[in-house]
Amino acid sequence: MIFVAAAQPVYPGNTSDAEALAIVRSHCVMCHAVKPTHESFQEAPKNIILETIADLKKHAATIYAQTVQTKAMPLGDQTVITDDERATLGRWLKELP
Ligand code: HEC
Repeated sequence: MIFVAAAQPVYPGNTSDAEALAIVRSHCVMCHAVKPTHESFQEAPKNIILETIADLKKHAATIYAQTVQTKAMPLGDQTVITDDERATLGRWLKELP
């Protein structure tokens, strides 16, 4: 049987919206929400809310700076993010139209 490869190209840098949102939900939203669940915060720090794709797009440049470049976020690495998660989120931010 002849196997014909799918014509759809696969980009190694491709990250889905769902993947990006999942990373932010695990590592940022406990603080950066309208009603944070983190005990130290009553409201989103610096009013940066990161609950939806629209929120992420709005803050793309600062998220990139804080999470990929300076690694200041997540604050104190309290949520123990991996380098792979930082890179994945970074790729998604860079790919934004
Ligand atoms: C434990 C709580 C906490 C977590 C988790 C957290 N942050 Fe923050 N974040 C803060 C606080 C507090 C500040 C304000 C810091 C300051 O005043 O300099 C902040 C500030 C920011 C800012 C604004 C920085 C600026 O100088 O304008 C961005 C963007 C940001 N966080 C993104 C993220 C992202 C993305 C994640 C997840 C990868 C994340 N944060 C996780 C608490 C948190």
